[in-house]
Amino acid sequence: MYKFFFQLVFKRMDAERAHHLAFRWIRLAARIPVLRTFVAAALAPRYKELRTEALGLRMHGPFGLAAGFDKNAVAIDGMAMLGFDHVEIGTVTGEAQPGNPKKRLFRLVADRALINRMGFNNEGSAAVAARLAARNPVFRTTVGVNIGKTKAVAEADAAADYVKSTERLAAHADYLVVNVSSPNTPGLRNLQATESLRPLLTAVREAADRTVTHRRVPLLVKIAPDLADEDVDAVADLAVELGLDGIIATNTTIAREGLGLKSPSSLVKETGGLSGAPLKERSLEVLSRLYGRVGDRITLVGVGGVENAEDAWQRILAGATLVQGYSAFIYEGPLYARAIHKGLAARLAASPYATLADAVGAESRKAAK
Ligand SMILES: Cc1cc2nc3c(=O)[nH]c(=O)nc-3n(C[C@H](O)[C@H](O)[C@H](O)COP(=O)(O)O)c2cc1C
Repeated sequence: MYKFFFQLVFKRMDAERAHHLAFRWIRLAARIPVLRTFVAAALAPRYKELRTEALGLRMHGPFGLAAGFDKNAVAIDGMAMLGFDHVEIGTVTGEAQPGNPKKRLFRLVADRALINRMGFNNEGSAAVAARLAARNPVFRTTVGVNIGKTKAVAEADAAADYVKSTERLAAHADYLVVNVSSPNTPGLRNLQATESLRPLLTAVREAADRTVTHRRVPLLVKIAPDLADEDVDAVADLAVELGLDGIIATNTTIAREGLGLKSPSSLVKETGGLSGAPLKERSLEVLSRLYGRVGDRITLVGVGGVENAEDAWQRILAGATLVQGYSAFIYEGPLYARAIHKGLAARLAASPYATLADAVGAESRKAAK
């Protein structure tokens, strides 16, 4: 049904317009009590065996919506209604900004992929904090807040911009993510180098602790798949050293070579971050590498090309306690999270593991022996 609709309507429409249209429907449905109850019952059935404890938080399951879909925290209940166990809002920057000129989002349908160069279009930390503060949740879900650098702020002043966002947003975040891996803000990914990342993460940690005193807000960092393996190791070691709570692997890639892309070269050549199916292999590789380095000391979040339950299961076996998706949601539609939950429950039941937590990293541990 969705696939038919996608072919008929969305595929003909500009990708960003289609996103806004679908987004409006989701938000609308979530505002109508009878409808949202019906939709949630159909699309967000709960599985006891998938209940997940991560980052000191209790969640309905391990599968969430990756950052970038709900940049301004306007559809948290809508996404929970569609079955996402956590919703990562953002990226939110210190100041509001329009992002890059349109067109900036492209569908590579033949590759089940997207290229985007949105450039952190968002309403800024003050507006998003006010919205979160005023929020009256309908569905219980975990809310992650992903923060990034305002484009107009110089790289040297990045920490102050992240600190500003932290001071405004930490109180409303179940967990906080420092995004240093989007390819569409010039210089942002340089912040992944440990000499820049160490002071940045330290400053954000301190700001979160200063602002929120009654609990410790879990802090994660989100990394790019384009990091060299030794840089992945360096971030992992730094995360352990700083007592970080988690690492999200991965953001979109700037790579195009060697991914076997089938879409027209005019599309493939668009600049920006590539996400979806072609990212699957590298994201999984980075995740496995991270698990080999940090084991159970840090919560790992697997994202990049997770299209179905098997992909989600493979991320869990590789070491992810939480899994996220974005691009496949565009292609699979509203049944995406439901299919993943159903398939995960079936895989767990057929596996030798008593709980989902037992399955986390099981393949990586076996491979290491
Ligand atoms: C249109 C679009 C916008 C995105 N915006 C953000 C963002 O603002 N912040 C962020 O951390 N990641 C962003 N991402 C990256 C996703 O969160 C995710 O890491 C990436 O797309 C890989 O997952 P996927 O293959 O399931 O899409 C964006 C992705 C897409 C497709």
